[in-house]
Amino acid sequence: MVDTDTVIEDAVEEIANALGDDTAIIALSGGVDSSTAAALAYEAVGEQLVPVYVDTGLMRKGETEGVRETFSYMESLRIVEASERFFDALAGVTDPEEKRKVIGEQFIREFETVAREVDADYLVQGTIYPDRIESEGNIKSHHNVGGLPEAVDFEGIVEPVRDLYKDEVREVARALDLEAVVSERMPFPGPGLAVRVIGEVTPEKVEVAREATAVVEDELEEYEPWQAFAAVLGKATGVKGDNRVHGWVVAVRSVESRDGMTARAQELDWQTLQRIQSRITGTLDNVSRVVYDVTHKPPATIEYE
Ligand code: XMP
Repeated sequence: MVDTDTVIEDAVEEIANALGDDTAIIALSGGVDSSTAAALAYEAVGEQLVPVYVDTGLMRKGETEGVRETFSYMESLRIVEASERFFDALAGVTDPEEKRKVIGEQFIREFETVAREVDADYLVQGTIYPDRIESEGNIKSHHNVGGLPEAVDFEGIVEPVRDLYKDEVREVARALDLEAVVSERMPFPGPGLAVRVIGEVTPEKVEVAREATAVVEDELEEYEPWQAFAAVLGKATGVKGDNRVHGWVVAVRSVESRDGMTARAQELDWQTLQRIQSRITGTLDNVSRVVYDVTHKPPATIEYE
């Protein structure tokens, strides 16, 4: 438990002092971390803050529309439609770290364009405590930590939730009256659905991951997982109607965790698993198989790449 009133008061004061009359920009993904950071910064400086949401084409179902609605009270909100540019940049890329790099770089280009347009002096980031630890330990490149500050010559960076764990950020989000779709939102990686498709990132595979993830999130809500989603592993043979099909293999993952650094695969009942399977194979013609991932972290990671 954190004292949310104090956290909010201190953060708003820190941001207001740091920014003065200057303009700040934040990459708003719609996730709880960046949304909370944006809400705090908006409370501190209002329209001096320009929140930028980049639609990479790798977002979850309904995410862009959700952000547009939730943050419509911020008139300075910018939504950048960039999915075609991301898919072009990702064509032919199969190495997991390379994918992250390509996405990170493209993201920076999109963000940089807006930062220059609005002449932003400061960068606000929704970095939380575990992000910093994993980045320092070089476990994985988190593109929400590196890259952005170097791309534009900012006068400074403000990270209002840098010392908080995810559950503490949620408490602050609730105290700020952010809608439940934001405060209770499952964590979602910066590179989006790209780390949930093995191999090349194509619009078809991403669409399968997106639709299947919507089913998984819906079916597993009552289990209150830390994260639950679907990933696209590869292709395998199946039978649909009277035809043999070579369709996608979808993995369902549902884990419990406090900070994402370790995680346990959730025990789900057979009927729930079967319902997920039949909804996914029933709605997606190009999926031939659904499997459930029982691996904890370690030895697996939560995401697939
Ligand atoms: P892994 O897959 O390493 O993930 O077990 C741990 C937690 O971090 C999230 N994650 C990311 N978040 N940028 C992010 O903002 C990333 O590149 C990234 N990679 C993983 C993941 O969803 C999980 O909650």
